[in-house]
Amino acid sequence: MSDQPATIEDYLDENRKFPPPADVAARSLWIQDGIDALAEGSSEEFWAAQARALVTWRKPFTEVLDWQVPNAKWFADGTLNVAENCLDRHVTAGMGDKVAYHWEGEPGDTRTITYAELRDEVAKFANVLKGLGVGRGDRVAVYLPMIPELPVTMLACARIGAVHSVVFGGFSANALADRIDDSDCKVLVTADGGWRRGKAALLKPAADEAVERTSTIEHVVVVRRTGASGDDTEISMTAGRDHWYHDLMADASTDCACEEMGAEDLLYLLYTSGTTAKPKGVMHTTGGYLTQVAFTHRYVFDIHPDDIYWCAADVGWVTGHSYIVYAPLANGCTSVMYEGTPDHPGKDRFWDIIERYGVNVLYTAPTAIRTFMKWGIEEPAKHDLSSLRVLGSVGEPINPEAWMWYHTNIGGERCPIVDTWWQTETGGIMVSPIPGVTTTKPGSATFPLPGISVEIVDEAGNKVERGGGYLTITEPWPSMLRGVWGDPERFFDTYWSRYPGRYFVGDGAKIDDDGYYWVIGRVDDVMNVSGHRISTTEVESALVSDPRVAEAAVVGATDATTGQAIVAFVTPKGDTEWTESLGEELRRHVADEIGKISRPKTIIFTDDLPKTRSGKIMRRLLRDVAEGRDLGDTTTLADPGVVEEIRRRAEDGGPTTAE
Ligand code: WT7
Repeated sequence: MSDQPATIEDYLDENRKFPPPADVAARSLWIQDGIDALAEGSSEEFWAAQARALVTWRKPFTEVLDWQVPNAKWFADGTLNVAENCLDRHVTAGMGDKVAYHWEGEPGDTRTITYAELRDEVAKFANVLKGLGVGRGDRVAVYLPMIPELPVTMLACARIGAVHSVVFGGFSANALADRIDDSDCKVLVTADGGWRRGKAALLKPAADEAVERTSTIEHVVVVRRTGASGDDTEISMTAGRDHWYHDLMADASTDCACEEMGAEDLLYLLYTSGTTAKPKGVMHTTGGYLTQVAFTHRYVFDIHPDDIYWCAADVGWVTGHSYIVYAPLANGCTSVMYEGTPDHPGKDRFWDIIERYGVNVLYTAPTAIRTFMKWGIEEPAKHDLSSLRVLGSVGEPINPEAWMWYHTNIGGERCPIVDTWWQTETGGIMVSPIPGVTTTKPGSATFPLPGISVEIVDEAGNKVERGGGYLTITEPWPSMLRGVWGDPERFFDTYWSRYPGRYFVGDGAKIDDDGYYWVIGRVDDVMNVSGHRISTTEVESALVSDPRVAEAAVVGATDATTGQAIVAFVTPKGDTEWTESLGEELRRHVADEIGKISRPKTIIFTDDLPKTRSGKIMRRLLRDVAEGRDLGDTTTLADPGVVEEIRRRAEDGGPTTAE
């Protein structure tokens, strides 16, 4: 855990400052709503005020926080329904004709969905789910592309008090099956496929495979997406188990009451990778979650009533859950939702979308920004991006160079950049600048939001006032995870045991002389590839599940575009030949086991792995080796020289042998 990424010093050299632009400050909601003054009181009072201002309660809460480490309860005696907050209350307030989503499919097809239409579709699908036997507390697995039926399914679950577990469409059948099993999902909602880079990427075959391996799925609902827009692949439907979404919806009623839920009732599960091979089912509940995501969305992006907002993440990750679905809808905001990749049909697809819809606020990831940098400024230059007012970044540290490029070429030097730090577990944004208020520094997430208590500590748990250490959170926050599904011990051990009473984030961070926070990256065995969290152990265990592999060690090596790239050191068994095709097969095997995002970029064969005396793999040393090499994209290096090199470096001493 003493691994501190070498880049820490690079960040500290960054001294450029960008004061809030006067025109943004002049209309800042933060200033208008007097948030600074509110923030002077206690955190509990602050969040209670936000919960009353931004959320509609059926029964108002009288209790704010009940905190017994590690269990937090926020607004526990209040009741509400999240779907009612996101839809019905806006329709009732006369906003039914306001657009909720400007949805755009990759092939160019579009759907404009108003709040009234979305409310009706959600109510209908809620009735469909009920008809399939889904009730309060039941888990529904969701494996869908970026189509409107994805938010519809999530909100339909919320409406009837069911719990959704969305699995990103890039995960494999195996990964889906594990997640279905872990929480005993009753129904699976999927699609024939979605469009990616001009091709139909099918989901139903993987969904079938997953369902076959599990025992709890009673019904599968299938949205017809690719089949309805040009793909003629035959989709097999199992009679009695599988149903087309459009058939079930044809005579569903729009009359469906919202269940009255307790503030601490489970809203959803979202699996994320930890330091073991088994992903954790992160639990998010109702009232506190909605309060914090609505608050952060309103003020971090300074969302005004007529804004067009676009979060370009995938709903399959927490960014999409909180900032494509729940927060923008709770705030009655108009969003753009896009199905496909940024390079189809051209590398200017994002800028084209921004121009056509007049997007005011864009929220994307550093890895995307670095990709756009590679494609060149001529792509954004083809379009009028003058509608943009605020730019967001999330998922990994943004390097100052990418920040400057974003600021200059996308923001036209006039848009504040909000570098938002948070995690699946935090549910909502925790550390971020406020547009029109905060002076930013490229690469720094600046300061914790009000009501959020962040501290950096050293190895021993002492507070670090200036300098580097581990990021911790000292007080519960409303959208905090409430547990790990089925594993309270793991919840405690992972987050609450290292520094008693504090939440251990797993990120290294620095606080500079001006008090700015710089989040550097993970300090545990977790990689961050294109903003996606991947466990080294999970990839290692996928590799050793191939009978030809004796041992494997996986590291995240610095990569100019994706942040980190997965490099696997593999020791094949006995006389297995170290061939390129073995490397290829192993890469494919990992993709089958987990998903394409977890496929190693490079596999390096070695007949030995460097270990400490206690048998722990010295990943830091392997990372040095990986980063010192010119690593190809798919090339498999069957490289006997590696071991020699590893041995030599280990003998040289240095930080890597100290462990
Ligand atoms: C990890 C959480 C937040 C939603 C998407 C990722 C890294 C996230 C930042 C940022 C530096 C960041 C951290 C964190 N991270 N945002 N602005 N600056 N690092 O959610 O998959 O749960 O990953 O992403 O390492 O722990 P996630």
